Amino acid sequence: MSRKILVTSALPYANGELHIGHLLEYIQTDIWVRYQRLMGNQCQWVWADDAHGTPIMLRAQKDGITPEELIEKMKASHERDIAGFLLSPDNFHTTHSDENKEMSELIYNKLNDAGFIVKKTIKQLYDAKENMFLPDRYVKGVCPNCGTADQYGDNCESCSATYDATELKDPVSQVSGTTPELRDSEQHFFALSEFSEMLKHWTAGPAVQDEVGNKLKEWLDDGLQNWDISRNAPYFGFEIPNAPGKYFYVWLDAPIGYIASHLNLTKRTGENFEDSWKENSDVELYHFIGKDIINFHCLFWPAMLQGAGFRKPTGVFCHGFLMLDDAKMSKSRGTFVSASTWLEHLQPEYLRYYYACKLNSSVTDLNLNLDDFVARVNSDLVGKVVNIASRCAGFISKQFDGKLSSEFPAELQGDYDKLVNAKQPICELYEQREYGKAMREIMLLAEHANTYINDAEPWVKIKQDGKRDEVQAICTVGLNYFRIIMTYLSPVVPELAQKTEQFLNTELTLDSLAQPLLNHKIEKFKPLMTRVEPAQIEKLMAATAEQNKAAQADTAAGSASAANCEPIKPEIEIGDFEKIDLRIATIVDAKPVDGADKLVELTLDIGVDTRTVFAGIKAAYDPVELIGRQTVMVANLKPRKMRFGVSSGMVLAAGPGGSELFILSPDDGATAGMRAK
Ligand code: MSP
Ligand code: ZN
Repeated sequence: MSRKILVTSALPYANGELHIGHLLEYIQTDIWVRYQRLMGNQCQWVWADDAHGTPIMLRAQKDGITPEELIEKMKASHERDIAGFLLSPDNFHTTHSDENKEMSELIYNKLNDAGFIVKKTIKQLYDAKENMFLPDRYVKGVCPNCGTADQYGDNCESCSATYDATELKDPVSQVSGTTPELRDSEQHFFALSEFSEMLKHWTAGPAVQDEVGNKLKEWLDDGLQNWDISRNAPYFGFEIPNAPGKYFYVWLDAPIGYIASHLNLTKRTGENFEDSWKENSDVELYHFIGKDIINFHCLFWPAMLQGAGFRKPTGVFCHGFLMLDDAKMSKSRGTFVSASTWLEHLQPEYLRYYYACKLNSSVTDLNLNLDDFVARVNSDLVGKVVNIASRCAGFISKQFDGKLSSEFPAELQGDYDKLVNAKQPICELYEQREYGKAMREIMLLAEHANTYINDAEPWVKIKQDGKRDEVQAICTVGLNYFRIIMTYLSPVVPELAQKTEQFLNTELTLDSLAQPLLNHKIEKFKPLMTRVEPAQIEKLMAATAEQNKAAQADTAAGSASAANCEPIKPEIEIGDFEKIDLRIATIVDAKPVDGADKLVELTLDIGVDTRTVFAGIKAAYDPVELIGRQTVMVANLKPRKMRFGVSSGMVLAAGPGGSELFILSPDDGATAGMRAK
């Protein structure tokens, strides 16, 4: 009996291009989906863009276009990359759609009817000049935890604390530059806490990986808070039914986008929609996600589904993050590789294969090492797999008119069966998302095939008298091995598989493998895949650095004008300024801080003294690249005790924050300890 399976990948935000980090997830999904289809299961992949929320509003504003124009443009860009990387979703929709509005309202109404929506009046920051409530990212102020100035209303870039915007000290509206006031605002909360028992049970079960379950247990044991699912206008999203001026928070309608994409698909195909989503459905439902969005998929989402009378996911498949040459990809370092730039320089299947080699069912991060990438693709795909075909095909077409032998050598039948019987363990590995192990199994088969051809030496025998039949048999065996191997690899390299089908003049299916291709005419061999040249990688990284620089200059210009809108602080006396002791400092050491994503621990030499300073610049700089640089520091700032140690001083930087932060450096010639004036 074939299984009925629905698969989703996390919906990319519609405010940016796809990058090779996203692709880790999307290729992981695609391989699994193609594997299921190869097995003969009914497997559909429904997917979409995540089009709502404040960042999309802000980005559209910055670009001087409407949010609708922005999301349309991004959807087209995402669709190009999806096709370029040979991803095979059955539907790629958008959360800004009629179907999603309908489903979001339906689910909200069901939750409301069941008493799971609670309204609560809370205090929120209000800009009286612009007459609007301020989203977290529209307000800045002093961190309530560590006292760092100029922090957004949701979390502090310096100490990583998260807090409510109302807790900021000296808040300033980023819209008008005025001080916002506190006003009452009624918000809609989802009663998540009522689902604690169900979630404790569900997260301990087979639907989530053990390591994810353990993480969730910590959260669940701490107790669940009700979840604010509403936002005040202005907001780009759907208005909440019977609540004018209130919008669904983007994370409410985003996962509902999975259902909406499926609804949109079934409208087109005429297939049944409801059966997949009702309780006790016989359709399996799996979500592929990254480790950063576990709580949304393993707490909020199953609770919402259950509360609204829908089925829960069969499984949430969570993966780790992509590292490029052992570091986080970063725009400021010029290593943020977009999907489209990759495609300009390298074939998609190289990356698909390399990711397959690296992927497993755990949540640990994965490293794309560029040297290893070149070596692996060339040695495996080109050197081992494609090589089998190129060594055998010439003889068959030139000497035997494209015809394979009519019999399989009896003494090799056992060998052939071994390759066919590898099907079961390899399929099991795909099913478990242990792609790396599956690739190793397949490469062992390819090595075996190459050894056979090496030992049989058809190129020697063709010159000997009376060995023609033998040469034809050797090449027939080789090409049959190639056919098996390519069938197993087809979920990973679909284009290569398609070329193989044309060349072998047969469809690659698991069921047909038991019978070798005999007395069968094949097509003329065309080179199936070329080697990766290190020069291509160099070009890719050079183009990436160039693009990242342009993008950064662009955001810096955008935010420079934003920064210039920030009101100038009240005047001070020269005496006030003279109190500040600014010194040139040499960064003698810089390291990440365990447990603080945004902090770098700097050791600063200021001639008279060595200081430890915790700076919130991790998003902008890889710590190692700071070592040896000079900067300017406030040397007489009162030492501050932080969660990770004492910070004695502060380094000067400019920029709006996050990855767009630039530490100030003196010209050559300045030495550590000099006073900055
Ligand atoms: N829009 C939300 C998801 C909503 S799902 C109902 C979102 N979007 S995202 O564009 O930031 O990320 C989409 C997916 O890509 C997430 O699963 C995320 O974990 C994954 N990745 C984004 N960057 C990644 C890496 N650098 N490495 C691996 N996966 C990455 O979150
Ligand atoms: Zn702080």
